Amino acid sequence: MSPTVAGSCAPPAAVLCGLAGRVPSRVVTNEQLARRLDTDDAWIRTRTGIRQRHVIDPGQATSDLAVEAGRRALASAAVDSVDAVVVATTTPDHTCPATAPAVAARLGLAGAAAFDVGAVCTGFVYGLASAAGLIAAGVAERVLFIGADTYSTIVDPLDRANAIIFGDGAGAVVLRAGHSDEPGAVGYFDLGSDGGQEDLIMVAAGGSRQRSRPGEPGRAERHFAMRGKEVYRHAVTRMAESARATLSRAGWKIDDVDHFVPHQANLRILHSVADDLGLPRERCATHVESVGNTGAASIPLALADAAESQVLKPGDRLLLTAFGGGLTWGSCLLTWPTLPRPERTMP
Ligand code: UT7
Repeated sequence: MSPTVAGSCAPPAAVLCGLAGRVPSRVVTNEQLARRLDTDDAWIRTRTGIRQRHVIDPGQATSDLAVEAGRRALASAAVDSVDAVVVATTTPDHTCPATAPAVAARLGLAGAAAFDVGAVCTGFVYGLASAAGLIAAGVAERVLFIGADTYSTIVDPLDRANAIIFGDGAGAVVLRAGHSDEPGAVGYFDLGSDGGQEDLIMVAAGGSRQRSRPGEPGRAERHFAMRGKEVYRHAVTRMAESARATLSRAGWKIDDVDHFVPHQANLRILHSVADDLGLPRERCATHVESVGNTGAASIPLALADAAESQVLKPGDRLLLTAFGGGLTWGSCLLTWPTLPRPERTMP
């Protein structure tokens, strides 16, 4: 492993060289949800922009999607070995151990460093920063980084406020050591958190806190809970602030951004953030309509979707921004590289 960049004293930058996404084959439409919940297609579309989502079948787990997305990303980068595998997820296969080592082993990458990143829906931006840090520190020359979530495994299927929002999926990127001025270099991060608001998005049981209480946790405490209205408000404010902080760090103006690729929480949130930033809505990448909110997978799935439909052109300047439980938020900038056209993320 020799992660220094020839002819440069600067630490190596992480350069995007592979991209892929995968969602499960099973589709759940708004109409299907309306048959078992007190809701309807018009409400869901108007409040969230979502038309359908994809969910895993019983017996499938997060790592199954992560492996499929990872395999495709490695093929897209034309590499068969990496020094580290990082998985951002809120829905690991098990509480212990992390999901990344199993994903690495199933991809024939056993022996590589492997660990999970937990930053809920901001997981992709936090994980990208972690992977870029491994490269900058000389720990790894190549990293496979996967955002994968199966919220269908933690959301109460009878909770109409949350069951309509989330979908399952995985998106993966391969990063290699390179120069900060070459296309594909990720940089200028902004990351933040506010743990004082952790109860806004939470699975109460299953961790060490809940186990310290007597008795078995109730059914509700095992499920994902979110105070949607408050989260909505924080999401718009924090995403806009984080986007501005990152642009200012890089010396970019809002007009320099060709594509805003936000975490796909809810179409209204994405449009509100774009409006707040003074960014035309047509520059905002959205695919929440067909896959819902896929947590840590949503930004790489949106990238794969936009790359597959050739919306992203080499040299385009991208602003990635996310918000999620924790609370956490983050942004980063990226100039689009030349990549092979990704396979369709939909089966
Ligand atoms: O990814 C991590 C971050 N997560 C997010 O960013 C999600 C943020 N929050 C949201 O996306 C939205 O708050 C929701 C989509 C969750 C909810 O939309 P809302 O416009 O904030 O609705 P609301 O919670 O204010 O509810 C309005 C009404 C309520 O009825 P009442 O009290 O006015 O009679 C709800 O009970 O809509 C009701 N409602 C529903 N009605 C039909 C809530 N869920 C549904 C539903 N179908 N599925």
